[in-house]
Amino acid sequence: MDIAPTTVSSATEVPAHNQSATPADLQIRPRNRNFASAVIERRRWVGGDPYASAFFNALSVTFPEGEIFFIESLKKFRKRVPAKLQREIRAFIQQEAIHSREHHSFNEHLKDCDFEIGRLEDAICRVVNGIRKRSEYDQLVATMCIEHITAILAAEVISNPAHFEHADEEQRKLWLWHASEEVEHKGVAYDTWLHVTKDWTPLKCWFVRCSFMAKIALGFTKNRARGVLDLLRQDGISGPRAWWGLAHYAFFGKAPFRRTLWPLLQFFKPGFHPWDIDDRSLIRLAESEYEAAIMVEVEAGSERQQRPRLHQIEELKKVA
Ligand SMILES: [Fe+2]
Ligand SMILES: [Fe+2]
Repeated sequence: MDIAPTTVSSATEVPAHNQSATPADLQIRPRNRNFASAVIERRRWVGGDPYASAFFNALSVTFPEGEIFFIESLKKFRKRVPAKLQREIRAFIQQEAIHSREHHSFNEHLKDCDFEIGRLEDAICRVVNGIRKRSEYDQLVATMCIEHITAILAAEVISNPAHFEHADEEQRKLWLWHASEEVEHKGVAYDTWLHVTKDWTPLKCWFVRCSFMAKIALGFTKNRARGVLDLLRQDGISGPRAWWGLAHYAFFGKAPFRRTLWPLLQFFKPGFHPWDIDDRSLIRLAESEYEAAIMVEVEAGSERQQRPRLHQIEELKKVA
């Protein structure tokens, strides 16, 4: 049975606390971008900032394994949800598979910059394999929580241009593209959860998702801080200087942690849904930034530089 677009099931089947707020006309469309040849030009590719560079590098190391896990956990429920949500899960899987591929390439380029990322890769594998041993519902709620964290970080990096203001251009495009798709599919895991828990009491739904989020948010913060400090040590920054620099970056400078704290806390509200805030304008903004960056490079480059760039644009048009 198909369902009304604004809900994950019909109103008679789904209780009020499990109704989805996903926009009826939301289109989730995988954009098959390819950044494999985008080498990291500077070790501190985020505008020369060692802390911002280490933060995004530590995040990137988690993506290939983490996003494969998200795919696995949603696949388990694909046959149990209404047709519209099945299509959204399919698009989610396509998007995450491409993200995983592109961040694998990014991580290979990190190795080319002489970063040893094996310890960080082992750490994320241990965490993900631990969750894989739990029930499929635990895996789904974990995916839903991490997807919320990813979506609010994505919204932050698109809406605040300071994050990638002086970053290497190819890397900026990679991160904006990934961020835009995270915003676009932010409700898919949540809607799957709403549908498969529709027979649960509101209190049980709220308690399970909030207790998971509390644990996952703390673990995410602790593990990313460890990863950042490891990469900073490899960049010649350690001890109190590393701790202070990271704290300043997270809370006072570009402040990705401080600026996402309030959106994170929204998750704990009874009746919360990721699409309570319709931020699709950020997807359009990220895409316009991406296109604008290409045009500026074409106009500024010499004829010799323009040829490969124009060739790349044609390639992008083919896959877009
Ligand atoms: Fe992703
Ligand atoms: Fe995602």
